[in-house]
Amino acid sequence: MRFRQTSKYDTQLAAGLHPTLQSFTLEGKIAVVTGGARGLGYSMAQGLLESGISGLVIMDRNRELGEEAVVALSAETDIDIRFYKVDVRDEASTKEAISNAVSHFGTPHILVNSAGIAESNIKAEEYDIDKFNHQIGTNLGGTFVIAKTVGKAMIEAKISGSMIFIASMSGSIVNYPQNQCSYNASKAGVIQLAKNLVAERARYNIRVNAITPGYMDTALNRTKDLTAQKEMWIAQTPQKRLGRVDGLNGLAVFLASDASSFMAGANIAIDGGCIAW
Ligand SMILES: NC(=O)c1ccc[n+]([C@@H]2O[C@H](COP(=O)([O-])OP(=O)(O)OC[C@H]3O[C@@H](n4cnc5c(N)ncnc54)[C@H](O)[C@@H]3O)[C@@H](O)[C@H]2O)c1
Repeated sequence: MRFRQTSKYDTQLAAGLHPTLQSFTLEGKIAVVTGGARGLGYSMAQGLLESGISGLVIMDRNRELGEEAVVALSAETDIDIRFYKVDVRDEASTKEAISNAVSHFGTPHILVNSAGIAESNIKAEEYDIDKFNHQIGTNLGGTFVIAKTVGKAMIEAKISGSMIFIASMSGSIVNYPQNQCSYNASKAGVIQLAKNLVAERARYNIRVNAITPGYMDTALNRTKDLTAQKEMWIAQTPQKRLGRVDGLNGLAVFLASDASSFMAGANIAIDGGCIAW
């Protein structure tokens, strides 16, 4: 475990940091991480815990993994962590979960939206419209629902907030040769949604930015049918590897923190150079 020695975020140590490093810390903030039961979301939640947050809300549709995540993270820290089972496509249950989380923790300052699904290898002419809509509804609709709900709570409580949407390089480029038009369209929508919310919410001191990962080594990609494609992905990536699961943590902490206070509407790639050429 990565921060067991200190057991919890070390306030005294943080207070001794020079101002620039101090501005990266998240002391006293409450964070919501969707898709935090596993993968990139879980790892970013861990990064936020290591950087000073005082409360963590994990939201995910997978109860078993979500509860396991709370147990695993709580073994590393004394910080208050709760899991809420939520399908981010469902506005009513998302609203109820946020309302319960606000009653327990207070209004969140940080939202990391990592919940998402990826369907690959379906040709457009064979894509069933319900399946297509399910993909869009999860990645884009779900981002909208959680950003709407958390944003409303932030605005009502007059909290300066930071929202971080996990998009994908697939929102800006077309992956080749796999066919995944719905996923790619959903992520392009996530990037555009972030920019729209920047324009709507800057007056409330709420910032929204997107992270665009390249090919990452998570369970999402550990399926049999992707084995051969993964070799192609590595070949297409100048750094010749997939991204590590904790590869987004530093940027997520930066975007959540005051160190990025003038950043709004950015979409930053972490992709080993994959879309640089
Ligand atoms: N892994 C990659 O290569 C990669 C690349 C670019 C972008 N991304 C994006 O990063 C995010 C996280 O990906 P990951 O690799 O950690 O995937 P993952 O499958 O390991 O984790 C995704 C989590 O989201 C949850 N989830 C899915 N649909 C949900 C819903 N409707 N409501 C609530 N929770 C839901 C899942 O239960 C899971 O815990 C996704 O949005 C994905 O599109 C991943």
